[in-house]
Amino acid sequence: MSVEGKVKPTTISKLLAMKQNGEKIAMLTAYDYTFASIAEQAQMDMILVGDSAANVMAGYETTLPITVDNMIYHAQCVTRAAKTPFVVVDMPFGSYQGNSDVAVANAIRIMKETGASAIKMEGGIEIADTIKKIVNCGIPVVGHLGLAPQSINKYGSYGVRAKEQQEAEKLMSDALALQEAGCFAITLEKIPAELATKVTKALDVITIGIGAGVNCDGQIVVTDDIMGKFTDFAPKFVKKFANLHDTVLDGVRQYSKEVKDLEFPSKKESFELNEREKEIIIKKKWKVLIQ
Ligand code: KIV
Repeated sequence: MSVEGKVKPTTISKLLAMKQNGEKIAMLTAYDYTFASIAEQAQMDMILVGDSAANVMAGYETTLPITVDNMIYHAQCVTRAAKTPFVVVDMPFGSYQGNSDVAVANAIRIMKETGASAIKMEGGIEIADTIKKIVNCGIPVVGHLGLAPQSINKYGSYGVRAKEQQEAEKLMSDALALQEAGCFAITLEKIPAELATKVTKALDVITIGIGAGVNCDGQIVVTDDIMGKFTDFAPKFVKKFANLHDTVLDGVRQYSKEVKDLEFPSKKESFELNEREKEIIIKKKWKVLIQ
């Protein structure tokens, strides 16, 4: 809280202090103004404008098709409402994996046009040099290890990652490389809880888990999954905190029924002329308004 009693915007130093103090960090995805307003009211620590928007907003099967322009649009909607949570925007597939100058230009564009506080990128040591360049521009970066949905075509499944020694060792060295490159946080997706615990202990920077157990410094989930809005499938790590699908479906069915039964709109939701307005209209012979 500030002196005026207002909640101050969350900063990286506050998030790092939360790790030091053992206070867990709560993060959710958001893609639009109305949900970001709710996250703001709930005093969410962090918001991710995830490229999962490709799935839950646009209906694509993978996150690959979403563009920098699409991400900027979603992030602008979110930052109009989210004034206190720390807002991170996913760099979409193809915007950073190739030429690092292009990656820097895309990261700068996202920061300039959205007012977000950081960007997130999937990958380990292979993108460390690019991360260094982006961090050197003054842009905070969140890494992303474990299940990397942008690489789905390489792996062919969304299964649990790093269950075996070699992959677990690679993940640990990637995490250290990302910290060294300047990431202030790393998302750990769908890896054994034991490995996430070890990585979290080994790092000074923050770990944010999704399907990575309770010992990460914070947790992130796709909002549409945990609020029961996206029901096409539900990974094991998803817990339903609300059932928006059924609530909204009931509402939509009721609306449709009332329209057909002439129950909606009723007098309460209509604008009818009062007696005085009717008198004036008759006097002035405004035929469109009277029979
Ligand atoms: O895009 C996204 O929502 C993410 C989370 C799954 C971490 O990257």
